[in-house]
Amino acid sequence: MIIEKIAESRFNDSVFESKVFGKNFTDHMLVATYKDGKWSEPKIMPYGPLEFSPAAMAFHYGQAIFEGMKAYKNENEEVFIFRPDKNFERFNLSAKRLSMPEVPAEIFMDGIKTIVDLDRQWVPKNYGTSLYLRPTMFATEEAVSARSSHEYMFVILMAYAPSYYEKPLSVKIADFYSRSAQGGVGFAKCAGNYAASFFPTEEAQKEGYDQVIWTDSIEHKYIEEAGTMNVWVRIGDKLLTAPTSERILNGVTRDSLLNLAKDMGLDVEVRPIEVAEMYEAYKNGQLKEVFGCGTAVVVNSYNAIGFGEERAEIGILPDEESYAVRLKTALRNIQYGLIEDPYGWRI
Ligand code: COI
Repeated sequence: MIIEKIAESRFNDSVFESKVFGKNFTDHMLVATYKDGKWSEPKIMPYGPLEFSPAAMAFHYGQAIFEGMKAYKNENEEVFIFRPDKNFERFNLSAKRLSMPEVPAEIFMDGIKTIVDLDRQWVPKNYGTSLYLRPTMFATEEAVSARSSHEYMFVILMAYAPSYYEKPLSVKIADFYSRSAQGGVGFAKCAGNYAASFFPTEEAQKEGYDQVIWTDSIEHKYIEEAGTMNVWVRIGDKLLTAPTSERILNGVTRDSLLNLAKDMGLDVEVRPIEVAEMYEAYKNGQLKEVFGCGTAVVVNSYNAIGFGEERAEIGILPDEESYAVRLKTALRNIQYGLIEDPYGWRI
């Protein structure tokens, strides 16, 4: 790996006062290029603009994928990356579905560890904050033919991550738009999935909601994801989350919460969740909590759900009664190295 260090670090402590997620980039980035069927040696260099042709195929046909993971620091200045192996695995699944080359572990995993270590002073120590790591790959071949590109760039960027949302969210259940379809790319972390979600989200925002709970594209009968998160529903004391599928992203935070919930002895079930079942539970006073989870947000509770024209104010349970709070705390304690990590998730 080639390492070209920045002449003078841009770091200063005021970065950690920012309330903005993902805008304060660290000193370095990693770049590797793919051409003639081979990856170049990865290069870590000062963070800055890159040059592309306006005909770079990613801009036209959307071959662009990414991952999101985080690095944390404890009081002893030890830095941990949370489950990067899972992101690596998913990145290459996304690559395959988008007809892009796989990125080898020597570039992705060794690259992540080396660049985090190089910019370790950018990893904040405050509970609730972290460094967001963003590996991404996009098509760079200069051509306007509609086919897979023959050239790609892999980049790792890192940015300061304060909390993503400061408050509980209200979400509208999708009854027209869809995020993904059977046989489509819902399970892949590809740029187009996000692009396609912005317009329906803005429409929901005009109706006074923050985000959309996505439903199946056939009947809008089952709930699938929420905003950019996996979704959890607590009916009475039963905690439900939808099974991952071709249409639902296999979230690393979702998987971690599932393990924690089982080990805490919560009554947790992975099965399809009907919108009608949620609505009925709301009417019966049994819809106790609905929350989303993801790397960026960790866990975020919803205080209102839009069922068609009806806005159901479900409120937020006190911390001591909330599964969302219990799970978030248990996860963070592991992420920040405050307790033992029986799962081997910290690297
Ligand atoms: C993540 O949780 O890492 C996400 O993918 C959300 C992101 C689009 C900010």
